[in-house]
Amino acid sequence: MIIIDSIQFIDLKTQHNRLQHRIDEALKRVLAHGNYILGPEVEELEQALAAFSGAKHVVSCASGTDALLIALMALGVKAGDAVFVPSFTFVATAEVVVLLGATPVFVDINEGNYLISMASLRAAIDVAKKLGLIPRVVIPVDLFGQPVDYDEVRRIAREYDLYIIADAAQSFGGARAGRRVGTMAPITATSFFPAKPLGCYGDGGALFTDDTDTADVFRSLRAHGQGKDKYDNVRIGVNGRLDTLQAAILIEKLSIFEEEIEARQRVARRYNEALGDVVATPKVASGAFSAWAQYTVRTEQRDRLAERLKEHKVPTAIYYPKPLHCQTAYLHYPTSPGGLPTSAKLAAEVLSLPMHPYLDADTQDCIITWVRDAVT
Ligand SMILES: Cc1ncc(COP(=O)(O)O)c(C=O)c1O
Repeated sequence: MIIIDSIQFIDLKTQHNRLQHRIDEALKRVLAHGNYILGPEVEELEQALAAFSGAKHVVSCASGTDALLIALMALGVKAGDAVFVPSFTFVATAEVVVLLGATPVFVDINEGNYLISMASLRAAIDVAKKLGLIPRVVIPVDLFGQPVDYDEVRRIAREYDLYIIADAAQSFGGARAGRRVGTMAPITATSFFPAKPLGCYGDGGALFTDDTDTADVFRSLRAHGQGKDKYDNVRIGVNGRLDTLQAAILIEKLSIFEEEIEARQRVARRYNEALGDVVATPKVASGAFSAWAQYTVRTEQRDRLAERLKEHKVPTAIYYPKPLHCQTAYLHYPTSPGGLPTSAKLAAEVLSLPMHPYLDADTQDCIITWVRDAVT
C-alpha cells in the first residue's frame, strides 16, 4: 500500500522548500538596501517578465485587480460606457468596471472550455446599444489558465470599435499559436496572488503592452497619476505599486517557472487520460497551451464527488459557485439575452481538483481512483 502525505490543493510549501535559500538571500538583499518602494528588483522583475513573455513593456502593480483597474483608467473608461465581461469569473473582472462608474454587461461562456462565448458577446453588444450605453471595452478572461482565442475577439472588437483587455490573472505562462500570454491582446493584466501559476507571497500583479505611451500611462497611474516627479500629478491615479520584497520573491520564482509550467502539463495530461470517460474534462484548443491555474472537471454528480473526495482528505474547490450576474451586488447590471444558461449550469457542475507542479504520480493516481469510484 502506498502511504501518501496530506494532499495539497496547491502546494506552495514544497515550492518554498525548494527555493528557500535563494528567497532568503533575495530578501536579505532588499533589507540591506532598504528601497522598499520601486527598488531595483521591481525593474529587474519587469524586464525578466518582458523577456519571458515577449511583451515590449511590463509594468508591475499591487494586484491583478489593480492591473485591471489601471488598464481601464488608462483607456478613460467612465459612466455611460459598457464593458463586456464573462459572468463566470472572479468578481474583480467586473468590480473594477463598476468602480469607474461604467456598466458591466455580462456575457456567457462556452461549456467545453469555460471561455467567453463570441455569440453571447455579439448579443450583449446589441443589448448595451439598446440601453443607450457606449460599447467601449471587452475583458475576456483566460479562465483556469487557457488563453482565449484573441484573434476571434479582435475581429469582433474591430467591428464594434472596442478595446480589448485580456484578464490573464490565471493564465500567465500559457500560450496560443506560438504567442505567450502578455502578447496576445493590446493590454494584458495578470495577478501574482499566491495561488496563481506565478504567485508571490502577498498581493501583486502586472500589465503587459507593446505600446510605449500606454506603458508610461500605466506607470503614472500606479503612482497616483505622477508626472515628471513625485509631486507633479497629471492625472487621477492610485497607490498601486508592487512591493520591492514581492518583486525579489518573484524573480526567484520566475527562474523555475518554465519547468513548473511543464510539470503542470504532465499533471493535466494524466488527469485527462484517466478521467475523460467519467467526467467532462477541460478542453484545450489545438495550438493553445494552458497554464493550468486550475484543473476543473464537470459532472452532474459534483456535490457527491466533492463529498467523497473530502472523505479521502482530498481538497477540492468550486470556481465559481455563483455567476456574477446572480450575485447580490451585480443583479441589476445587464446581461446578454437569455439568462446566461451555460454560466448557470456550470456553476452547479464544476469542481477543481488538486493541481500544482509538485503533485506526484502516486498521489495523483489515488485521486484519480477516488474520483472514478465516486462517479461511476
Ligand atoms: C480572473 C481573475 N481576475 C482578476 C483577479 C484579481 O487578481 P488579484 O487577486 O491579484 O487582485 C483574479 C484573482 O484573484 C482572477 O482569478
